[in-house]
Amino acid sequence: MGMMNICIKLIRVLLCCIPIILNTTFHGNIGVVMAFHKVYPHHQNIGAAKVKQVHKPAFHFQPKQHWINDPNAPMYYKGLYHFFCQYNPKGAVWGNIVWAHSVSKDMINWKSLKPALVPSKWFDKYGCWSGSATILPGEKPVILYTGVIKETPEPGHQVQNYAIPANYSDPYLEEWVKPENNPILKPIMENISSFRDPSAAWYNNGHWKMLIGSRNYSRGIAYLYRSKDFVRWTRARHPFHEKMGTGMSECPDFYPLSSQGQKNGLDTSTLGSGTKYVFKVSLDETRNECYTIGSYDVAQDRYHPDNTSGWDIGLSYDYGNFYASKTFFDPVKKQRILWGWANESSTKDEDVAKGWAGIQLIPRTVWLDPSGKQLLQWPIQELETLRGKKKKLKNVKLNKGDTKEIKGITVAQADVDVQFSFSSLSKAEAYDKKWDKFPTQDLCGIKGATVQGGLGPFGILALASKNLEEYTPVFFRVFKTDDNNYKVLMCSDATLSSTNKNEYKPSFGGFVDANLANRTLSLRSLIDNSVVESFGEGGETVITSRVYPELAVYGDAHLHVFNNGTESITVRTLNAWSINKPIMN
Ligand code: FRU
Repeated sequence: MGMMNICIKLIRVLLCCIPIILNTTFHGNIGVVMAFHKVYPHHQNIGAAKVKQVHKPAFHFQPKQHWINDPNAPMYYKGLYHFFCQYNPKGAVWGNIVWAHSVSKDMINWKSLKPALVPSKWFDKYGCWSGSATILPGEKPVILYTGVIKETPEPGHQVQNYAIPANYSDPYLEEWVKPENNPILKPIMENISSFRDPSAAWYNNGHWKMLIGSRNYSRGIAYLYRSKDFVRWTRARHPFHEKMGTGMSECPDFYPLSSQGQKNGLDTSTLGSGTKYVFKVSLDETRNECYTIGSYDVAQDRYHPDNTSGWDIGLSYDYGNFYASKTFFDPVKKQRILWGWANESSTKDEDVAKGWAGIQLIPRTVWLDPSGKQLLQWPIQELETLRGKKKKLKNVKLNKGDTKEIKGITVAQADVDVQFSFSSLSKAEAYDKKWDKFPTQDLCGIKGATVQGGLGPFGILALASKNLEEYTPVFFRVFKTDDNNYKVLMCSDATLSSTNKNEYKPSFGGFVDANLANRTLSLRSLIDNSVVESFGEGGETVITSRVYPELAVYGDAHLHVFNNGTESITVRTLNAWSINKPIMN
């Protein structure tokens, strides 16, 4: 028995080392792909930094300056959308975290208010970290958030708190009160520094339920808590979700969707037939997100992922730069809206010099794909109010090696929607079974836009310099498998996006569940100076890249459609718009 215990402990210690090993081997963001946020103590007090405009997105959510990360507590209240996010008021690196607060009538134009939560009590003295909003009966919003009470053990001793509006008749919800009976939850000893990010709560069987992200060594856990009064919470005996080897599960999210092929979203507490559930966590060690679709057994309070969308299938909202996402139900448009944070791919020194870091991606409507196996996503319709000058193409043929430039709009700040068509699948390249074991982004690295193919690569070259020293291709490539099926790969490749050698320039990729019967593939890309956010096949696959061209900036940027496959491609329709700048904080 004693020996057995020693063995178990040894295995735990070894598993515990996995993050350390990962941290020292995965060299991503010139720093390193780090578990948790990197702390730079000497960059915390920047004062009134100069803000560099080059590369600053125009229509993506961001503060005027400094650092932001996770979206927090999106909600609708008395005619206004409220959005909060993790914000460092003192610099362009992570630290001094408070809740920035902005309001909007359309989720596109934003007015910033004073931070809603700042460390002020013993139970959040070292940070007000991520959390969510729940609207209690009688239209009473409440925020659950993580407070950090000690800086040790790293990344801090974490508890859960709640905050309520000081004045419910104020639609701006400017003042928030943190009642003295906080914290409402303390961690158990083993996860004192891995106990954070309460989800929005849902109600059934006489209880409120919510999830908290955690871990036990390398086992990622989402704990389920129940409460009758929203103040006294009890942990359910079984974790809501746990998975070996994933590390800390941050920012859990759980919500229902209609399984009836409707785009309409559902309130978080909706139950009943015709409902499927989505469970998502953000994985701190690999800095990616994973979601599954499944069913929810209310009597047992258990979630069962479907085998068609299980964990190992590895579904992501976005196969690029996207993290710590959170959804909410928009009661006005009856939609489930998804927010996600994109960090910078530039170096820490460049971020400090820019005076800003981090954006939120365009809010997306999410709903269930008719196959039931995955989600579909689309930028909220309100984005279209920013569309300005338009350029149209119809039936333009592209033979192998052809490009066609799209002129006459502001291509560094644009919305581009293209439908490609082809007459045959016969030239699709053979799919090599061994690629099943590759991360999809590696396949995009090997099979880049310049590697000639059969059916594809074809797509767009975004943020291209005049002589193509720089460009970010977003493209499709179709493969044929041994069993006569087709696989469509979508890539967004930053490898040649900038002549600046210091940037992190990954190629990202995901497969697209496309129906090729009508021989078309569509692509919509939102291009915003340093953002290329792309939706393949009406939102089946989404990939975001952050890029920092040296030459292809503002009016010196170019946009092309291209084909580098032996099968000719037709641009059946292309609609591209200049995008105007909204009011942004
Ligand atoms: C995710 C995260 C959360 C935490 C917050 C701190 O990016 O690490 O787990 O609450 O950021 O800013």
